[in-house]
Amino acid sequence: MQGNMSAKKRYRPLWVILHWLMALLIFAAFGIGLLSLVNTSNTGQKLVPLAVHMTLGLAILLIVTLRFLMRMLIYKPVRRTASTPAISAKKNLFLDQLTPYVHPLLYFFTALMALLGVAIALPANLFPIVFGRSGASLPANFYVFPTRTWHGTISLVLMLLIVQHVLVAIFHQFLKGENFLGRMWFTKK
Ligand code: HEM
Repeated sequence: MQGNMSAKKRYRPLWVILHWLMALLIFAAFGIGLLSLVNTSNTGQKLVPLAVHMTLGLAILLIVTLRFLMRMLIYKPVRRTASTPAISAKKNLFLDQLTPYVHPLLYFFTALMALLGVAIALPANLFPIVFGRSGASLPANFYVFPTRTWHGTISLVLMLLIVQHVLVAIFHQFLKGENFLGRMWFTKK
């Protein structure tokens, strides 16, 4: 992608890799949750999709925590609007105005989703059943655990936050023709 953006305005390669890896894993966790888990009864055939979903979810929790700490403690680029006076002078789209709130909320709700998943898994004994193949049966319905309802409800909130995030990127990158995604990509040396 374009190499004309100064280093202080963009994320470093490890930050970029973790961002796109997290996006991919979240997309996959949603896909398995919505397309497989909710449509499969709690029998042996659910063990493999559950194992994949739980592994993805735990990996997401690790990466989102790591990336948040890296961003807070090690490095974050200057804000896009602060670094480009022409952008801050423009009257921003409503969706743009939400961005400063949406970014921290994305970290928070992603981590919350994963923690709620763990909060279903622990009382349901899912770790020994799914990963240890203990032979015990799955609970007939995960909704006996209140955290299951929260996992479903918070997934809608996270989905809305992701939609805002993606729409803003599409708007700036493709409709306004700005090098928006350049901040979250690799520099051409
Ligand atoms: C950010 C990470 C995660 C995302 C985006 C995610 C997403 C989802 C979604 C969309 C559903 C279906 C919800 C519904 O429609 O009601 C679901 C269900 C579920 N998830 Fe996750 N999840 C994540 C992490 C986890 C983790 C870490 C675990 C466990 C360690 C987990 C365990 C479950 C379980 C047990 C179900 C219920 C399946 C059922 O009712 O049959 N999830 N998840």
